[in-house]
Amino acid sequence: MQASTIDGKAIADKVRAELAIDVAQWAAHAGRRPGLAVVLVGNDPASEVYVGSKARQTVAVGMRSFEHRLPAETSQTELLALIARLNADDTVDGILVQLPLPVHIRSDLVIRAIDPAKDVDGFHPENAGRLTSGLTGLVPCTPLGCMLLLRSVEPTPVGLHAVVIGRSNIVGRPIAQLLLQADCTVTTAHSRSRELPELCRMADILIAAVGRPELVRGDWIKPGAIVIDVGINRLPAAGAAKGRLVGDVAFAEAVAVARAITPVPGGVGPMTIACLLHNTLQAARPVYG
Ligand code: GUN
Repeated sequence: MQASTIDGKAIADKVRAELAIDVAQWAAHAGRRPGLAVVLVGNDPASEVYVGSKARQTVAVGMRSFEHRLPAETSQTELLALIARLNADDTVDGILVQLPLPVHIRSDLVIRAIDPAKDVDGFHPENAGRLTSGLTGLVPCTPLGCMLLLRSVEPTPVGLHAVVIGRSNIVGRPIAQLLLQADCTVTTAHSRSRELPELCRMADILIAAVGRPELVRGDWIKPGAIVIDVGINRLPAAGAAKGRLVGDVAFAEAVAVARAITPVPGGVGPMTIACLLHNTLQAARPVYG
């Protein structure tokens, strides 16, 4: 079997185009545009790129973008004071603090300081708890994007066995919760799991979110499975790979076995910002009830 490639860029474009219509409608009623504040501390080059893309795409769907670029020496107290101001600002519907933060700042405290109703990353324990309890709330962007990609090829994954490799608060855990809500049978595997290849071979849906380049080989995949690859790993610049970007799945092997698979780049990556913008509109609407 030759797998179909799930085109994350095209799906993300569609999500943003639909969102732009909803944003315009919301803005006409509210008399203002939804606003997203992004906070970047320091000048990590990858984070700078993300923040620039977020700002451009925010404006492109008709929302206001507020960028706060702070020096690396910013104290935790100063950052918490900025978050308190953004929490109180009625023109700000969503707040995202770009991670990782410099080591002298405790990111758990910073995340907990964000008003859960403005927590468009869905990282606040209140939103994590809501997701686990099956309540409405703000859901982390990358897991949300993975579910949209999955549903593009399998609209009703009821009863299918999903194996998630990875248990991070940002991807692995929340995606396991979303799959459970979609009535999948869910196994969460991680770096300490035994017999990982055998476990993966049981998966109708395999989600790889471990950050290990090409860990998942073709013979780990059940024929006809759907593979969602969350990994973005840059191979060493020296050597044959020449700094190529690869996922957590050996794509060339997997594509010969799976039914559908996301590529890297161009799969999960483009969905994250689209889902962030979706969450910002959600936050502008009353989410909590
Ligand atoms: N750094 C890399 N990805 C993300 C993300 O989705 N949210 C935040 N806040 N920081 C990140």
